[in-house]
Amino acid sequence: MTVQTIGKSLPRVDARGKVTGSSPYSGDLSMPGMLHMKMLFAGRPHARILSIDTSKAEAAPGVAAVYTAKDVPVNEYGLQWQDQPVLCGPGSTKPGADVVRFVGDQVALVVANTEAEAASAVKMIEVEYADLPVVIDAEEAMKPGATRIHEHIGDSNICVHYKIRRGNVDEAFQRSDVIVESEYRTPVQEHAYLQPEAGLAYIDEAGLVTLVCGGQWTHEDQHQVAHALGMPDETIRVIYPAIGGAFGGREDMSVQIALALAAWKLKRPVRIIWSRQESMIGHGKRHATVIRAKWGATNNGKINAIENVIIGDGGAYMYTSNKVLGNSAITSTGPYFIPNVKTDVYGVYTNNVPGAAFRGFGAPQALFMAEMQMDKLAEKLGMDPVEFRLKNALRDGDPLGVGTPSPSPVSVAQCIEAARDRFGWEKGKRRPEALEGKKEERGISHLKRGQGFAAGFKNIGFSFGYQENCWAKIELHGATKIERVVLYHSGAEVGQGAHTVMMQMAAEATGVPFEKVELVASDTARTGNSGSVSASRMTFMSGNAIRGAADAALKKWGSEERPAIGEFKYLAPRTTQFDHDTGYSTPNFAYAFVAQATEVEVDTETGHMRVIRFISADDLGKPINPALVEGQIEGAVVQAQGYAILEDYKTKNGRVLTDQLSTYLIPTIRDIPEKVESVILEIPDPNGPWGARGVGELPYLGVAPAIASAIHDATGVWIDEFPFTPERILRALGKIS
Ligand code: MOS
Repeated sequence: MTVQTIGKSLPRVDARGKVTGSSPYSGDLSMPGMLHMKMLFAGRPHARILSIDTSKAEAAPGVAAVYTAKDVPVNEYGLQWQDQPVLCGPGSTKPGADVVRFVGDQVALVVANTEAEAASAVKMIEVEYADLPVVIDAEEAMKPGATRIHEHIGDSNICVHYKIRRGNVDEAFQRSDVIVESEYRTPVQEHAYLQPEAGLAYIDEAGLVTLVCGGQWTHEDQHQVAHALGMPDETIRVIYPAIGGAFGGREDMSVQIALALAAWKLKRPVRIIWSRQESMIGHGKRHATVIRAKWGATNNGKINAIENVIIGDGGAYMYTSNKVLGNSAITSTGPYFIPNVKTDVYGVYTNNVPGAAFRGFGAPQALFMAEMQMDKLAEKLGMDPVEFRLKNALRDGDPLGVGTPSPSPVSVAQCIEAARDRFGWEKGKRRPEALEGKKEERGISHLKRGQGFAAGFKNIGFSFGYQENCWAKIELHGATKIERVVLYHSGAEVGQGAHTVMMQMAAEATGVPFEKVELVASDTARTGNSGSVSASRMTFMSGNAIRGAADAALKKWGSEERPAIGEFKYLAPRTTQFDHDTGYSTPNFAYAFVAQATEVEVDTETGHMRVIRFISADDLGKPINPALVEGQIEGAVVQAQGYAILEDYKTKNGRVLTDQLSTYLIPTIRDIPEKVESVILEIPDPNGPWGARGVGELPYLGVAPAIASAIHDATGVWIDEFPFTPERILRALGKIS
C-alpha cells in the first residue's frame, strides 16, 4: 500500500463550514414548534432547600412546564461518582439532594414558548433556603469537624487520597547535599470555550429521546441521561453538532439531562442556550491546588529523594477529581528518575465550583511544582538547569514514581535536547556567578529579560485499569475498484481536527485517496462507542480502531462482498490501579514527553510581563497531520500562557466574582507570545497507529513553570504562585506590599 495521506497537512474537513458560519453549533439549532428552557441556579454556595413554590411560574404567560427535583426519575449523575443531583431540592428519593453545594447547582427548569417568557417565569419561582456554613478552603475542609459537604459520602470531606511510597525518603534526605522546600499554589482556570453550553432535545422519528448537544463522549452522555431518566440506554440518542471547544470542560455534563427530561415529558423540541455568565458558574474548572514539596539532591547533580503533598480543591462534586488527581500523583516526580519518593495527593470537597478535567488533567499543577523544584535545586547546586534535567531525565526502563517503567519509549532527553538546541540555550548563563555579567550585558533598563526551561510528560489514554477501547466501522463501496469509503466513528470533533485525522487514517488504511473518504460521526444511533475525546487519546485509539476496521473490510472486499463492511473494537494494552499503600502500578499503556523553553520580558516598574518566544518540543510519535499538530501546540501554549500570567479567577465566600469575560480575562491576540515554535519529534510508539501517540495536552504542560523560571532568570525572584499578574510580580519584587 502506498503512503498517501499520513503526514500530510491536509486542510480540515470542517474548515469551510466553520469559516463561513454554516456549521451548526449547539447554540444555532432550532426546530419548528420548539420550546425554550431557562434554569434557576442556586446562586448561593451552601444551603438546604426547605421548599420550592412553582405555582406562580407555572401560571405565567407562555409557560409549558416547570420541573424540580421531584420530577427527575433518578435524581443523580456524575462521570465518576453519581454524587450530583440533576436538580437540587426536596421531594427526591436521592439522599442529600435537597442541599445546594455550589452557586451553579441547578434548582428548577422552566420551559416556555419564548426564552423571555421562560426567563421571567424563573424569577417567579419561590425557594426557601436555610443557609449552611460555607467551606471554601480545601485545607480547612480537610480538618476534623469541618462542615460536611456530602453528609452521605465517606466520613470526611476528603474524597480522594493517593499514596506513592518508594524507597526511603527520610534516609535519603540525610544523604542529600542540597534540599529545596517550597509551597506552591496553582489557580483555577475556566475553559472559556467558544460555544457556551447549549443544546436541543426532541423525540426523533424512531421515538428516541434525542439530544443534540456538544460533549466529549457521545455514549457516556447517553448512558448518564438514560440513568437519570430511568430508561434503557438505547432509548436515548445523542448527536454531536459542531462543538466549539471542550478542553475537558465538556467531559462532565451541564444541560443534557435537563433538556432530555423536558423533551421526554413534553414530547416537544426544547432548546437551551446558556449565557456566558451561566456557563462560567455552571460548569467545573481546573482544580486549584496547594502543593508542599521537599526535594533533595547530591553534589553530583542527582536527585535522590522527593516528598510531596498535593491538595486539590474538588469543589462541590466529584466530577473527574479522582482521575485528575491520580494523574497529579503520577506526574509529581516530573519526567525524572527518582529513587526515593513519598507523595500524598488529596482531593477535597468544598463549596466551590467543582474541579474538573482540563487539558493536562492534573499534570500541569504537579509539573509546576516539579519543574520549579528542579530549577531551584539546579541553582543551589550551581548547575545549568537544562544540564541538571538531562542528568536526571528518565531513560528507557527506568521506573516512574509508580515503580514501573513507561511502556512507551522514554524520549524526554531527546525533547530536552531538541528544545535546548532550537532555543539556542546558552549553557551556564543562568549560573549565579554569571548574574553580574548578565546585568551588564542586558542593560540596566527596567525591562528585564530572562530565559526559562521546563519538561513534562503525560499519559495517552484512560488509566488505572480501565480497559481502553475504541470502535470504528468502514464500508467499502464500488464494483471492481473502491470508489467510496465510509468511516463510522463516534469520536468528537471539538475543534482540534480529529475528524480530519481520522479520515486521513481511513484513507491510508484502505489505500484510497483522501477525497474518497466520507465520515459519519458522533451519533449513538449510527455509530458505536469510540470513547471520549480526552486524555489525548483520540488519534491513538481511533487510528488503531480504523486500521482494524479497514483490515476487516479489505478482507471482505477481497472475497467479493459489496459493499465490504468491516467493524472493529480496538482494545489497548491493560493497565492497573495504584496499590493502595505504595501506588505501585502500571497505570498507563502510553506516555508522551515534552520540553519547552521560553524568553520573557518583565517590566519591573509596572509588573507587566510578556512572553517573547516560546519553543515547544513534543514527541508525539508521528504527526498524522503536521499543520494540525502545530495548531495544537500553538493553541496549548497560548491557553497555558493565559493560565500562567493572565487568568485570575476570583471568588468571595463561594461566589464567583469573575463570572464574565469582562472580568475573567483570557488572552487576546495582543497578549499571546510573540512567537511559538513547534519542534515535532517522531519517535514511534510501538502500539500507536503509524507510530502516533497524541498531542492534545502535551504542549500545555511545561508552560507555567517555564515562564516562572524565566521570570526568576530576569528578576532573581521565585514566584511560587500564579497567575503572574503585575500585582503579584511587583509584590515579589518588593515594590508593593
Ligand atoms: Mo481531558 S482534560 O482528558 O478532556
